[in-house]
Amino acid sequence: MTETVKNTTHAQLIIGDKQYQLPILKGSQGDKAIDISRLHKETGLFTYDIGSKNSATCSSSITYLDGNKGILRYRGYDIEDLAEKCLFIEVAYLLIHNKLPNREELEDFRILLEEYALLHEDMIHFFDHFPPNASPMAILSVMVNSLANYYPEMGGDPLLNINDTAGRLISKIRTIAAFSYKKSIGHPLVYPRNDLSYCGNFLNMMFDTPVRPYTVQPEVVAAMNKLLILHADHEQNCSTSAVRLVGSAGVNLYASISAGINALWGPLHGGANEAVIQMLEAIHRDGNDYKKYVAKAKDKNDPFRLSGFGHRVYRTYDPRGTIIKKACDGILAVMNVSDPLLEIAQNLEEIARNDDYFISRNLYPNVDFYSGIIYRAIGIPTDMFTVMFALGRLPGWIAQWKEMREDPATKIVRPRQIYTGEQARIFQPLGERF
Ligand code: SDX
Repeated sequence: MTETVKNTTHAQLIIGDKQYQLPILKGSQGDKAIDISRLHKETGLFTYDIGSKNSATCSSSITYLDGNKGILRYRGYDIEDLAEKCLFIEVAYLLIHNKLPNREELEDFRILLEEYALLHEDMIHFFDHFPPNASPMAILSVMVNSLANYYPEMGGDPLLNINDTAGRLISKIRTIAAFSYKKSIGHPLVYPRNDLSYCGNFLNMMFDTPVRPYTVQPEVVAAMNKLLILHADHEQNCSTSAVRLVGSAGVNLYASISAGINALWGPLHGGANEAVIQMLEAIHRDGNDYKKYVAKAKDKNDPFRLSGFGHRVYRTYDPRGTIIKKACDGILAVMNVSDPLLEIAQNLEEIARNDDYFISRNLYPNVDFYSGIIYRAIGIPTDMFTVMFALGRLPGWIAQWKEMREDPATKIVRPRQIYTGEQARIFQPLGERF
């Protein structure tokens, strides 16, 4: 991947009486980075960058973000086009193979996903041993990691079976998610059906019951396709970085994805969609006093933050949030539900976007702010919202892992530190310690 990143000019670094030339790399969309690959060797110094806010940890051709303009593209295609005109499995194929599939390729991919929809029957017993209130994200992480025991083909050349393994993961994660929900409510498992689409199958596995057959509504399938597409990749976010970091040690794809699931679980990351609904419900219980919560979010002495607001990269509206916000009214009408939380969310957004605290910090609604409104309308339980995020993000994680493993420049990720501990001390035997 590094050959597509061209060296252009150099940065001058002066330390004491020495001058160093550091190449400035330029990406295909003009983004630039100072190449510090030789910095420690030449100067003995490290860079220091908490949270990697200022550091590019790799070069990648998968997703492009422009945080100032609110641009998001997967493999060069604008998210607005993909979200409106594609199926999720088309976008999954695009991310992994760098091309939108033609009819034949899409049909082959659809059949691959069908072939791998079932879970090994032995794995279904795992669900019997999770406590009833087990987190669906903990279950997902355990089950995905365990797939390596049942499908060891990744043990050899990790890229040899990547298409099969990708299809297996994308299909089975959907079955695992639905089964974990059914188990959590004590309902019988509903098995995948090959006559349903990727999203239709998931909805049916989630909501069909022996006593009340579920009707798969095209509008709900369309909403789910859109949500999964909008979550499919987002360059080097926390969970994708976890997938790359763990994968750089040479471990199999299942274990790397399981690491990504665990990172996504955090309320500062993918867990924010669940935290948004919990926040909106708290405001609703508190007499819809959203102004009070805006004041709390601004108060430095209050740890409360507006979930679903702010982003490390976007300094304007998250383009995904724009699309999701627009989709809310439509899905609520289809499901014939009105959700009081939507009005609270809209009021929060209105007041925050006219408040200097948020404006001066470029804090806008992100992908998580409105997504929970749609999941609720569809009937997805709140504790499954981050699982839905993981279902969408999986193709992106796989594409990023594949790109990292295919790149001959890849090395195991091993950052350094600034040591701030004790100087060398003389050891005291136990009897001499006070
Ligand atoms: C996702 O990286 C990705 O691409 C992630 C993601 C993806 O698709 O993979 O887009 C998905 O994770 C979206 C983000 C979901 N998280 C949340 O919605 C949680 C709420 N947001 C914040 O915690 C925060 O905005 C982050 C974590 C998203 C970003 O934090 P940063 O970039 O580290 O910024 P920061 O914490 O340094 O905040 C800068 C300032 C601070 O104030 P000052 O110290 O300058 O006075 O903004 C304030 C923060 O206190 N601030 C907020 C705020 N977010 C930041 N104040 C109130 N409410 C908030 N939500």
